Amino acid sequence: MPRKKKTLQTPGGFHDILPQDQPWWDFIYEKVKHFADFYSFERIETPILEFTELFTKGIGVSSDIVEKQMLSFRTKGGDDVTLRPEGTAPVSRAYIFHGMDHLPQPVKLYYFSPMFRYERPQKGRFREFWQFGFEILGEKSPVLDSQIILIFFRILENLGFKNLKVQINSIGCFQCRPYFKKIIKNFYKSRISQVCPDCKRRLKVNPLRVLDCKEERCQRIKTLAPQIIDHLCEDCHNHFKNVLEFLDELAVPYNLNPYLVRGLDYYTKTVFEIWPEAASSKYELTVEDKEFQALQGALGGGGRYDDLVKLLRGKDTPAVGFAAGIERIVQELKMMGRETPSKPPFQIFFVQIGDLAKRKSLGVFEKFIEAKIRTAESFSRDSVRAQLKIADRLGVKYALIFGQKEALDGTIILRDMTTGAQETVKLDNAIEEVKKRLRK
Ligand code: HAM
Repeated sequence: MPRKKKTLQTPGGFHDILPQDQPWWDFIYEKVKHFADFYSFERIETPILEFTELFTKGIGVSSDIVEKQMLSFRTKGGDDVTLRPEGTAPVSRAYIFHGMDHLPQPVKLYYFSPMFRYERPQKGRFREFWQFGFEILGEKSPVLDSQIILIFFRILENLGFKNLKVQINSIGCFQCRPYFKKIIKNFYKSRISQVCPDCKRRLKVNPLRVLDCKEERCQRIKTLAPQIIDHLCEDCHNHFKNVLEFLDELAVPYNLNPYLVRGLDYYTKTVFEIWPEAASSKYELTVEDKEFQALQGALGGGGRYDDLVKLLRGKDTPAVGFAAGIERIVQELKMMGRETPSKPPFQIFFVQIGDLAKRKSLGVFEKFIEAKIRTAESFSRDSVRAQLKIADRLGVKYALIFGQKEALDGTIILRDMTTGAQETVKLDNAIEEVKKRLRK
């Protein structure tokens, strides 16, 4: 028996974005770009590979990402590098490296790019996934925290989400957080035997993360735990109060979530996430979809990171930003029953008959493309019937028929696909004639 050849696959957690899904990426990118232009953000793309130190320093050694999820390796030259797991640390590095602190502040940047995390692959969780993110560097005003939430909210609304939930919290700063960590440790001292092994470890290395635990036994205990917003320093307290007041003013609905701490260590003060409409609500979800929603959580999140640039050896630079998962958004829109965004339809179809016409066809076709008329063709087919059938299927209003006689006379036949009426026009006037008819 001949051995069956094994088909080559992508590595686990890596996936192709096939032509049928590209319209989703285009659709999301167009919205992101539209809002970025409106709010004066400029695009930045950082390299996929960075020195590992950027992430260990920036995201924090005790974060899940650095502890378990980095795709790191040593190059032949001996450099320790990592496929970027997120965009905030690289953007901050680029801000320092390119002297953006000399530009008028704040500097507003956005990106739309793939990220890499070595997570357990499952529905909606990938090892390579796409994010779009917005970052504002060089300004500490709480108005920007609210504006960045508003921008994120408006992009999601524009993509078709309704009843979005903003969850928000403040996790204080390097002044007030150490004290709160002590309070949390004290609270858990007598309950240590009741929490999961991960939380036992977290209490040693990063006590705030126990508030983020998804284990049921830990969730029960945390409802009794002290809340950080009751222990903020005056500056953090006022900052947070202002953020909420601005959100009220902007009528952005939000829920205060005292347990929201987020998984990256660079955050200070405001942290937030935006969640899709709850699983119990209007659109019908399968049991699998509901499980998926609960597991995947937020569409995206962000917060203030006032110490990151300094930590990466830059100047003292307050900053705030967010990032959203593109696969996560697409999955959710599909669950809501949204049709794949459609491309603009073809306007005309170019039919060619015979060798001479075929030879000249490419050049004639180019003229229609240059005139920005969306023209379909099937140059590999010879039969008029087959070509008109495709034109019919595409639903174009007009077909242009170019045969031997027309190629010699410098003319082309314009066929109305609805009535079947045909008219011969001069090739030089064809574009104007088509435009005139399409305008009607
Ligand atoms: P994050 O919460 O780690 O934040 O990621 C943002 C979003 O990326 C998540 O809400 C999720 O939609 C998506 N995402 C994360 N991991 C995966 C995965 N393995 N597969 C699919 N989607 C995923 C950050 O990355 C911060 N840099 C956000 C930020 C920007 N904070 C300030 N500025």
